[in-house]
Amino acid sequence: MNLTFDPGTLIVLVGGSGAGKSSFADRRWPATWRLCLDDYRALATDSAADQSATPVAAQIQDLLLDARLSRALTTVIDSTALLPHVRAHLIARARYWQRPAAAVLFDVPLETRRAQNTTRERVVPDHVLLDQEQLLPTAEQLLAEGFTHVDRITAPVGLAPARAGR
Ligand SMILES: Nc1ncnc2c1ncn2[C@@H]1O[C@H](COP(=O)(O)OP(=O)(O)O)[C@@H](O)[C@H]1O
Ligand SMILES: [Mg+2]
Repeated sequence: MNLTFDPGTLIVLVGGSGAGKSSFADRRWPATWRLCLDDYRALATDSAADQSATPVAAQIQDLLLDARLSRALTTVIDSTALLPHVRAHLIARARYWQRPAAAVLFDVPLETRRAQNTTRERVVPDHVLLDQEQLLPTAEQLLAEGFTHVDRITAPVGLAPARAGR
């Protein structure tokens, strides 16, 4: 695991709620690099959890994704990315713009996610955590899908500022 990426890389965080994706992105990368569906749902509806706003949130994300990849700006997708068709779409955009697509796989124990879920900004029901567990791909699967590089995180990473990977 080196967690350094060439400029212009599309970095897709993959993992269930409470795995630590947003915290990880926050302490490593500038805020402008990070595209987060929760944020766009909140901007559309005042609620990050309102799934009725997922289509508009996805449209906003796609506009910003293309804007950034076309400029060869490193871009971090901060959502669960647990569905293969979601990942396929992101890989397709990276390919279109001829940018590398890397995945950071948050393969942390369910108990860790449960504990972190309780401190999360928006607590997710336990059945959602369990369903997400079933959807987590392996690093091999991600490589087979077309990611050029996969880093796997299996335990919470220290919260000290790192800012690696610029
Ligand atoms: N490495 C860590 N050590 C301790 N607490 C963490 C760590 N990563 C995340 N947390 C805490 O766990 C909760 C969930 O993290 P978050 O980044 O929101 O997860 P996700 O974006 O994957 O749902 C937050 O309250 C966060 O502060
Ligand atoms: Mg998050």
